[in-house]
Amino acid sequence: MVLNGMAFAQNPNMPSDFLSKEWHKERRQKLREKLPANSVAVFFANAVRNRSNDVDYVYHQDTDFLYLTGYREPHAVLLVFKDKQKAANGDEYNEIIFVQPKNPIMEMWTGRRLGNLGTKEQLGIQQAFNNTEFKKYNVNFASFDQILFFDFQNDVRNEPRDSSDLYDLIEQFKVKVNYPRKDALSVQREQPQNNLNTRGLFRIMAELRGVKTPEEIDMIRKAVTISCVGQAEVMKAMKPGMSEREIQGIHEYVFKKYQAEDIGYPSIVGGGHNGCILHYIDNYKPALDPKELILMDLGAEYHGYTADITRTIPVGGKFSPEQKQIYDLVLEAQEAAMKICKPGVSFSTLSDATMQVITKGLKELGIVTTDQEARKYYPHGCCHHIGLDVHDRGLRDLEENMTFTIEPGIYIQENTTKDPKWWGIAVRIEDDYLTTKDGCEHLSTYAPRTTADIEAMMKQPSPLDNFKLPELDKLNKPKK
Ligand code: GLY
Ligand code: MN
Ligand code: MN
Repeated sequence: MVLNGMAFAQNPNMPSDFLSKEWHKERRQKLREKLPANSVAVFFANAVRNRSNDVDYVYHQDTDFLYLTGYREPHAVLLVFKDKQKAANGDEYNEIIFVQPKNPIMEMWTGRRLGNLGTKEQLGIQQAFNNTEFKKYNVNFASFDQILFFDFQNDVRNEPRDSSDLYDLIEQFKVKVNYPRKDALSVQREQPQNNLNTRGLFRIMAELRGVKTPEEIDMIRKAVTISCVGQAEVMKAMKPGMSEREIQGIHEYVFKKYQAEDIGYPSIVGGGHNGCILHYIDNYKPALDPKELILMDLGAEYHGYTADITRTIPVGGKFSPEQKQIYDLVLEAQEAAMKICKPGVSFSTLSDATMQVITKGLKELGIVTTDQEARKYYPHGCCHHIGLDVHDRGLRDLEENMTFTIEPGIYIQENTTKDPKWWGIAVRIEDDYLTTKDGCEHLSTYAPRTTADIEAMMKQPSPLDNFKLPELDKLNKPKK
C-alpha cells in the first residue's frame, strides 16, 4: 500500500483532523518573522527514550518540532532561515528538514515512516531530505550572525547500527557550527566566542506558542471536554473500595474512547493523604475509604494538545463538614482569580488573588495565624499555560487567545494542625480557561465543580455499575 502519496485526510489509518500542512507552514513563517537579522533557527526532534532492555517508551515528539512541522517521527532536524538561501542548483529556499529515511524492513517492525518524499507531500516542506544527507549537506553556518537552537542536555543515546540517528545529527551539527567542546551554556555565558545563541529561542517560541490560533483552540477545547467527561464519569462510577489505579483507568479509558492518543502528563489520583503529594503518580492505594477525599488531576492529550483538570471528590459521595469548609475555600480562591483574569493581568496577580483568599480563610478556620504559615498549606502557584505541553511555553502576562489554568489548593498533612479533624484533607480545583478580548472563557465547565453539583453527579447511575469482571483467583488455578 502506498501511503506516501496520500494526504492524511484521505488515509484510513490516520485521524483526519490533524492540523494541516498549511497551518504548520504558517507557524514557520511566523517564527521567521521573529528571528533576528541574518539568522537560522535549528530544531531537533525528540530523542527515543529507553524504558528497559529492548523496549523503548512510546515516542513523543518534541513540542516545538511538532508545532513547526507536524512531523511525528524521531531522528530529524529542521532549519528555518530568516532569509532566502540559494541551493547549488540555483533553487531558493528558506527552510530544510532532514528526516529518517523509508526502510521497508524497519517499517514492518516499528511502524510507517514518511521519508523525504512523504514529508514533501504530506507536510509540505519542499526541501526535505533523508537524514543520511545531513552530514554532507553544505550550509555555510559561519555566514550567519546568529545560529539559534536549544542547547543540548547530553541525554541522547547513540544507536550504533545507525549513522544518522539523532545522536549523530547532533554531533554532525556541532562540527558544522564549531560548537565548543565544553558545556556550551557555561562557556558562552562567560565568553561569547561565536555566533551560537542558545537562549534566544525561549522568548521567541514563548511569544509564538503562548497565543493560540483558532485551530489550536479547537484542539484544546476537545482535550478539555474529553477530560471533563472523564471526571464526570468517574464521579458516577466512584464506589468505596475501588483502587486509585481503577479510577485512573476509568479516566484514561474515556480519553481513549474519544481518540485522545495519550495523557498530557502522568495521571495523579490520590486518596486521602496521598492528595497532599502534589504530583502523586504512584496511584497504588488498593482500596479507597468512603470517609476520604480523592484528588484527581488528569488531562487527555488530543493530537498533541493537552488539558489539565483537577477535581477533588468525596469517595463516599458526600463531603464531611470539614471537607466542605476547605473545599469551599479553595473554590472561593479560584473564583477570585477567575473574576479578574483578562488581557494585561499577570499570572502572579492571579496567584496573589488566590493566596489572599486562602490565607484569610485558613486564619478564620483557626488553622493558621500568619501569612507565612498559610504558604505551607498552599505551596504552589496557580497558573500556567496549556497547549502542546501541560506547562506550555508562553509569557506571564495574559493576552487574548491564551489558554491557561487556575489551580489553587490546600493540602493538610498529618500532624500539621493542632486539631486532627483537618488531617488528610487535600483539595485542588483546577480548571482551564481561554483569554478573550476583555475577560476569559471557562472551558472546563462540563466537569461539576461545586460540592452540590459533585454530590448530585455522584448520585447518577454509571454505565460501569454493571461492568463486572471475573475474579482472577478463580480463573487460573495451579493444576494439582
Ligand atoms: N498536572 C500538573 C499541574 O497541575 O500543573
Ligand atoms: Mn496545572
Ligand atoms: Mn494539574
